[in-house]
Amino acid sequence: MKGVILAGGLGSRLYPLTHATNKHLLPIYDQPMIYYPISTLVNAGIDDIVIVTGGPHAGHFLRVLKNGKHLGIRHLEYAYQENEGGIAEALSLCQEFAAGDDVCVILGDNTTDADISRDVRDFSGGALLFLARVPDPERFGCPVFDPDDQATILEIEEKPVSPKSPYAVTGLYLYDNRVFDYIDRLTPSDRGELEITDVNNWYIRDGSLHWTELNGYWSDAGTFESLYRAGRFWAERRTREADQSPAPAGWSAERITYPVSGQ
Ligand code: DAU
Repeated sequence: MKGVILAGGLGSRLYPLTHATNKHLLPIYDQPMIYYPISTLVNAGIDDIVIVTGGPHAGHFLRVLKNGKHLGIRHLEYAYQENEGGIAEALSLCQEFAAGDDVCVILGDNTTDADISRDVRDFSGGALLFLARVPDPERFGCPVFDPDDQATILEIEEKPVSPKSPYAVTGLYLYDNRVFDYIDRLTPSDRGELEITDVNNWYIRDGSLHWTELNGYWSDAGTFESLYRAGRFWAERRTREADQSPAPAGWSAERITYPVSGQ
């Protein structure tokens, strides 16, 4: 399976920060945002990866990621999206790269500690969505479950005003190669984008959409609130990990404290 990270768009919801660089290079605690989706893929055994980006700061990725070897990537490609034509349009640029293979797609502003290696290993075609229970499903793609069979999704609604379930469709998807045929059939939505939700609805119609609940923490980081929340989660996580790991030889147990500005 090949890996696709979608990191295009202007990140205008994070202006003025994204005047300086691409949204996906902003920090989530101690790492650039894009390190998180990269590690989700690499930890799942996917090391052949394309990053789709665009906008005025696309060149910044090379400075940070180089050839990706230091992050466990075996082969790294970049693709350039001319405009903000939507997530599905960004994915369509990866058809050559996929070369007939299945793809694991992750949005560049999604961060999770879930291990999806088993899902990747067991994937046997169609599409697999990862759902997460959230307090604000109206911000996301949101599944409508069959009232007679809660395991079946009848439809995905993109940012519904009145969500019919408390779940978000996370920006992590497994697709077989038919995904590129489905993207070809799309027309732009009211907001002028080719929507990944419309792709998922095609898979529902052909009876090959599967879903599972994402097992772990998940957040997007495309707004100030979610960027802050994700940073706080990872700061706490790393502090906990550091507290639990044995101190290296010669290391002083004294805590390093950083001065607050003005002190
Ligand atoms: O985070 C999960 C949600 O992501 C899903 O629940 C929604 O169904 C899906 O539409 C998407 O919603 P957002 O409104 O959060 O998507 P956003 O426009 O913020 O784009 C998310 C990422 O996708 C962004 O960080 C980079 C990539 N992208 C987006 C667009 C519009 C591209 O690569 N190219 C694009 O043209």
